[in-house]
Amino acid sequence: MEKELEKLRETAKKEIAQIKEKKEDLELIRIKYLGRKGLVTKILRIMKQLSPQERKIIGKLANEIKEEIDLLLSLKQEELKRLINKNDLKDDLDITLPGKPLARGKLHPLTKILEEIKVIFEKLNFDIVEGPEVETEYYNFEALNTPPDHPARDMQATFYISDGIVLRTQTSPVQIRVMEKNRPPLRIIAPGRCYRSDAIDASHSPVFHQVEGLVVGKEITFRHLKSIMKIFFRQLFGEDIEIRLTPSFFPFTEPSAEVSVCCVLCKGKGCSVCQQTGWLELFGAGMVDPNVFKAVGYDPEEWTGFAFGGGIERLAMIKYGITDIRLFYENDLRFLKQF
Ligand code: PHE
Repeated sequence: MEKELEKLRETAKKEIAQIKEKKEDLELIRIKYLGRKGLVTKILRIMKQLSPQERKIIGKLANEIKEEIDLLLSLKQEELKRLINKNDLKDDLDITLPGKPLARGKLHPLTKILEEIKVIFEKLNFDIVEGPEVETEYYNFEALNTPPDHPARDMQATFYISDGIVLRTQTSPVQIRVMEKNRPPLRIIAPGRCYRSDAIDASHSPVFHQVEGLVVGKEITFRHLKSIMKIFFRQLFGEDIEIRLTPSFFPFTEPSAEVSVCCVLCKGKGCSVCQQTGWLELFGAGMVDPNVFKAVGYDPEEWTGFAFGGGIERLAMIKYGITDIRLFYENDLRFLKQF
C-alpha cells in the first residue's frame, strides 16, 4: 500500500510538471487525484478497513501527498497566470503608441509679466521686497506726506478695516517700511496686491496689483529716473519704444511725473487703446519728497532719490492685448490657456 501511494505521488508530480498552457488540465488533475472519486480520496476512504498501525502510517502519508499535490497545483496555476499575462502584453499592448496627453498647467498672465518685471530689475541690481496688504493709515498715507485732510486721499477710494487700519491702496507704503529698516543706498522694487473701492468695469477692479520702485543714494537725479524708466519699458515692450515724462502730482514726490510710453499697438498714430493720443500713461513717478525722508529719519540734505509705481494689470493688458481687466480674475480656462 505504501509503495502504491509513493507511485501515485510520483505520477501526479510528473503530470503536473507537464502541463504547459491549459488551465483546464490543472482542474482535470485535481479531480483525478483529489476529487470525490479521486485516487488519493479513494485511499483515504478505505482507511477504516486497515489495522490501527497501518492506518496511522498510510493516513499520514496519504494526507502528505494530498497537501503536496494541492501545493504543486496552485504553484502551477500561478506560473500559468504569469505566462498568460506575458503573452497578453505581447499581443494587445503596443508600447510604441503615443500616450494620452497630460494637461499642462500654465502660469497666470499676471504671474508671467511679474516674473518678467522682476528679471528686468534684478539685472539692474534692484532687490525685490514685499510689504503687508493690511496696512496702517500711517504707512499708506501719513508717512507718504498725505495727512488726513489732504485732497489726494479722495483720489484713492479706501477700504477701512478699522480705525487707522486700511487695505493698502498702493504699494508706496513699502517705500517707508524699507527706508525705516535700512540705510541708503537703496535700490528696490516692491510688487504686490492693492485695493480700492472702485466700481468694477473693463479697466477697474477693487483688487489689483502694482509694482513700486525706489532708489535712494548720493546725488540721484531726475535723469537717473528717466533712464531707468526707458530701460524698463524698452525691455518689456521692445527696443523701439519711446517714453515721455509729463508733469503730474503725488504727495510723496516732488517734482512728480507721469511716465507714458508711445502706444505699443498703433505706434503713436492714435487708436482706441490710447484714446487717439498716441501715448499710454503707465507709471507715476518723481523725486522722493523731503518730507518723506524726514518721516523715516533720512537727512534730505544728504540723500536724494526717486520713486515710481503703477499697475501690473495695465502692463499685461497692453503686452498681451487683453481688453478687459476682469478676465484676470475669472479663471476661465479658455482665457488662461492662451498664455
Ligand atoms: N502710488 C502711486 C499711485 O498709486 C504711484 C506712484 C508711485 C507715484 C511712486 C509716484 C511714485 O498712483
